[in-house]
Formats: sequence, structure tokens, C-alpha cells
Amino acid sequence: MPNPPSTPLIEIVDLTKVYKMGTVEVHALRGVSLTIQPGEYVAIVGASGSGKSTLMNMLGLLDQPTDGIYRVRGTESQKLGKKALSDLRNREIGFVFQRFNLLARATAMRQVELPLFYAGISVRKSKEMATGALTRVGLGDRTHHRPEELSGGQQQRVAIARAIVNQPSLLLADEPTGALDSQTGEEILTLFEELHSQGLTLIVVTHDPDVAGRAHRVITMRDGLILEDVQQVPSRPAPAPGGDASVAPVAQPTPDVQPIPGAQPRVILETAGEVAV
Ligand SMILES: Nc1ncnc2c1ncn2[C@@H]1O[C@H](COP(=O)(O)OP(=O)(O)OP(=O)(O)O)[C@@H](O)[C@H]1O
Ligand SMILES: [Mg+2]
Repeated sequence: MPNPPSTPLIEIVDLTKVYKMGTVEVHALRGVSLTIQPGEYVAIVGASGSGKSTLMNMLGLLDQPTDGIYRVRGTESQKLGKKALSDLRNREIGFVFQRFNLLARATAMRQVELPLFYAGISVRKSKEMATGALTRVGLGDRTHHRPEELSGGQQQRVAIARAIVNQPSLLLADEPTGALDSQTGEEILTLFEELHSQGLTLIVVTHDPDVAGRAHRVITMRDGLILEDVQQVPSRPAPAPGGDASVAPVAQPTPDVQPIPGAQPRVILETAGEVAV
């Protein structure tokens, strides 16, 4: 007997979202179906207004779809009550946003401890976990700095530490490098790669083809629908200015790209630059 396929981390079927603005209806999602397996690194791209953030809000259980099915590890989210839903979100999902969304006056330690406080974890354990998460993102020596005392990249690292401190399975990032210069953005992408190699599933919304190029799968949205869903060989970081030319991006052979059961048609691309937006 062949092994049964593993339970997908995320499964959405025919998801729709209609925003009602007085008498006007905005069809932000018009029937999106998608399966994400544990350990994937996915980029979502598409023109402004195509529904990327709306989809992220659904994936993150921050908002309810108008119609369709959403399962997290096989559990149908619409069947859960408020408490079970927020437990599921806290356990499985972390968020990172373009503008970091940090508290202006709180230290890095406090920002990262806060979700643990809401999860009812003891002060001592919270401190230990927050220190661990900040160390994991390379900020072990900045735990008492407030946002104004940190660079943009460091602030985004604090936000990432806050997102992963509960050890979620899935990290959702909406334009995580959008407010950063390219070198600082590069540091965040390197951190994502480390977290991905440690088993975290990543979904990143981006307008930047270089950011999308680092993912293993690129989903392109248009007008509330998935236009294209492709596996790709992720590109490697560009060398630092004046760096060693021998580490310049190299197209890799494709042996480790696995087809994903239940996925929509895909092709192998060499770079995300070929993904039409
Ligand atoms: N809360 C809301 N109320 C009404 N309409 C909304 C709301 N949020 C989004 N929309 C509409 O839904 C559509 C999809 O918006 P969404 O924010 O998902 O786009 P996006 O792909 O993330 O765009 P961008 O790249 O500019 O961030 C747009 O037409 C937008 O105006
Ligand atoms: Mg958006």
C-alpha cells in the first residue's frame, strides 16, 4: 500500500470574500483554492488590489471568508468557536507586516513577551522564550532597546521574533521588506531562509521580484483569483558590493523540487523574473 499523503498545513477551497461598502460590493476574492504543505516557502505576487492581503487575512484567521472552506491541519476553521479559533491562530500562525507594528514605547523583550502573556504563560517562562526568540533573530544583545533605538531591519527582526516566539508552524509576512532598503531587506530574507531551513512554513506577499525569487513556489493573483501557481528553483542572494564574485547567483539544477499533491498546474522556472504580474 502506498503511504497516505500527509495532511496539508493549509487547504482552502473556493474561498470568496466580498466587502460590502454601503450598496457597493467589492469582490476581493472570487474563488481561490490552494493547498500548502508543511515546510513550503511560498511567495504571493500580483498587482495592487488583486487580493493578496485579503487572502493573507483569511490564511491568518484574522477575518472570515464570505464563502468557501478553510482547513488548518485538517480542522475546518468555520466550524470553530471564537476561543478555539484564536487558540488555533496563536498556536499555528505568526504574522509580520510591512510597518513592523511594534509598540512605540516597549522594549524588544516586552514586544516579544506580550503574545506569551496573552497565552497565559508564566513571566519566568515568557522571559526565557522571548530571549530565545530574540537570540534566534540575532538580537540577543538588543533586548532592552525600544523601537526608536533600533534600525528598521532590527525592528523587523523584533517583529519576526514576536511572530515566532510561540513556535508557530506558519509565518505569514505581508510586504516584510517593503519599508527596508535592499541590503536590510536582504538580511530579513536570509533570516527567513534560516527559519525555513529549521522547518517553518513561510508565505510572503511581495511586489519585489527579487523577494519572490527566493521562495520555492510563486502564486500570482489577479482580480481576486489565482492566475498562476508555479514551483521554482529559488535564487540565491546577490553578492554584497565588492564581495566575492564566486558567490554570485547561480541557477541551480532542479532535483529537489517535489510536486505537491492536489496543487494546481505548475511549471519550473529558473527565476521569478519570468512570473508575469
Ligand atoms: N476592508 C475593506 N473594505 C472594503 N474593501 C476592501 C477592504 N480591504 C480590501 N478591500 C478591497 O479588496 C480588494 C483587494 O484588496 P487587497 O488589500 O487584498 O489587495 P492587495 O493585493 O493586498 O493590494 P496591495 O498590493 O496594494 O497591498 C481591493 O479592491 C480593495 O479595495
Ligand atoms: Mg496588500
